Amino acid sequence: MTAEPLERFLNSPEQLRTPFPLPAPPASPGTGDLVLRTARETDLPELRRLDQEVFHEVAYPGFLLRQLYDMYAGHFLVLDDGRGRLRGYVLAGTTALDRDSWILGLCVTRDRRRHGLGRELMTEILGLLRRAGTERVRLTVEPANHAAILLYRSLGFRFEEPEGGLRRDYFGPGMHRHIMRLELAGGA
Ligand SMILES: CC(C)(COP(=O)(O)OP(=O)(O)OC[C@H]1O[C@@H](n2cnc3c(N)ncnc32)[C@H](O)[C@@H]1OP(=O)(O)O)[C@@H](O)C(=O)NCCC(=O)NCCS
Repeated sequence: MTAEPLERFLNSPEQLRTPFPLPAPPASPGTGDLVLRTARETDLPELRRLDQEVFHEVAYPGFLLRQLYDMYAGHFLVLDDGRGRLRGYVLAGTTALDRDSWILGLCVTRDRRRHGLGRELMTEILGLLRRAGTERVRLTVEPANHAAILLYRSLGFRFEEPEGGLRRDYFGPGMHRHIMRLELAGGA
């Protein structure tokens, strides 16, 4: 299923910061009621709640989420249901010098999964990064997270060598992660 009806406010840097009228809520869950937009400072409490709902013990502490927002607000996108709830987000952190970026967070709430929203968030952020001159994007993913790995592979990400991208104890004892990488330079 695709997220075709998803409203988009990401066509230009100006629009990224422009307030907009929220669409009327739909009668049933789906994707048509969601707006994809850049995060705002006032989203932080709801972002924290969402991050905890999805990531539990590995959710970002509130203070870190705040500082990530301060540093990367332009590359912090949310799915807004227009009724005070965020249904997903993606966050990319980018270095100025070597034009590297890391996807630091991606999620869609459980009730909205498999509607193309994760792909939509990733496609938008990759487009923003490409237009900003980013040359490569990396991310970490839990080896058992097949859904995310399939999504990333379908977008062109590949495991970064050595060892097939597997970094043992990457986030601490027993917290292994794959590193995946996408080259943007010269890409579509
Ligand atoms: C990973 C995640 C963001 C995907 O969001 P989503 O909106 O459900 O994904 P989409 O509907 O856009 O699916 C995109 C592709 O991902 C893959 N995928 C997603 N969910 C899948 C599942 N449950 N099983 C198998 N493949 C899956 C498929 O390849 C799918 O493409 P297809 O629909 O053409 O088959 C979502 O599952 C999530 O938030 N998970 C918990 C948080 C998380 O793991 N984040 C990533 C951390 S690295």
